[in-house]
Amino acid sequence: MNNAGAGIAITGCGSAAPKAILTNEHLARIVETSDDWISSRTGMKRRHIANNTESLSKLSAIACQQAISMAGITPTDIDLIILATSTPDDLFGSASNIQALIGANRAVAFDLTAACSGFVFALITATQFIHTGVYRNALVIGADVLSRWVDWNDRNTCVLFGDGAGAVVCQAIPEGDRLLGFSMYSDGSKNGCLNLSYQSQSQPLVADLTTQSGTYQPITMNGKEVYRFAVDKVPEAIGKAMFHANLTSADIDWLLLHQANQRIMDAVAKRLKIPRSKILSNISEYGNTSAASIPLALDEAVRQGRVKPGDTIAASGFGAGLTWSSAIFKWG
Ligand code: ACO
Repeated sequence: MNNAGAGIAITGCGSAAPKAILTNEHLARIVETSDDWISSRTGMKRRHIANNTESLSKLSAIACQQAISMAGITPTDIDLIILATSTPDDLFGSASNIQALIGANRAVAFDLTAACSGFVFALITATQFIHTGVYRNALVIGADVLSRWVDWNDRNTCVLFGDGAGAVVCQAIPEGDRLLGFSMYSDGSKNGCLNLSYQSQSQPLVADLTTQSGTYQPITMNGKEVYRFAVDKVPEAIGKAMFHANLTSADIDWLLLHQANQRIMDAVAKRLKIPRSKILSNISEYGNTSAASIPLALDEAVRQGRVKPGDTIAASGFGAGLTWSSAIFKWG
């Protein structure tokens, strides 16, 4: 089992999205908005929305099976599963349910929450276990069903989010390391910019003792603040990861950002002096799928043959927390 000092390679990917598609035209019938407003401000046209039979675990299992198959291994080869999500089917965690669904019965599975940064945080976490030689094969999942927590009367947020799942397989390799650099950050002083928070009510229990009962409230967001934060911090995070990797913008083949807003992706590319043609974007089809957005866009680009083995990818997630992160890796 011990393989200390191993490098890692990302050898498989997969993704899944619910069948139903919610268009900008549909949204214009629900709130006061228009296709023109949504597409010009965000780049979004459609998003996939889960019905009550399409659980986060089931979508994730499909993505995992595809990733395992592309990597050429079997579910019982998997040692570690990390599920990045803010919307588990079960607040105790959904990773072990996914483990059972795919039959990865040798693995240990747990959830990690870092909102839209979750996939990159989970990828970096998984690679640490491989670098130290503890595990050889890890499955990293980014999945969210944020439509469960959207206020469908709030046009500021309901037009933005969609549902989906994506997964990658990371494997130990004896020589070289295809994770070239990374960076991770959080700033809790800006926590109030983006929330899906629990609201409690006091409930008498016995004598002088009260307990609380409540539920999570729909997503609230200060869009302008998050926009400014992303355009400011994401280039910095990628710059730091490039520095660790001893790379410059000219070495990057693909910019793979959290799909929150096409304007954010364009502004980040401009700041980094990376041509727009190198941005991997599928935001028009999926909207913001939170932790799923990066592996979903990666999987599509790999299956379309755009991303090829050996290509250098600069990925960056950002979102609630606030959190942000970057990972630079060679595909395949
Ligand atoms: N349709 C029509 N008008 C709208 C809509 C809508 N859907 N939503 C807002 N408006 C209105 C506003 O009410 C406002 O009207 P007013 O000027 O009369 O007050 C006007 O449009 C402009 O609103 P802004 O908020 O200034 O619009 P902006 O250009 O900033 O775009 C957006 C809003 C798209 C949300 C942008 O700020 C953004 O993308 N922010 C970043 C979001 C993000 O990156 N999130 C990532 C993390 S997600 C996570 O972690 C879970």
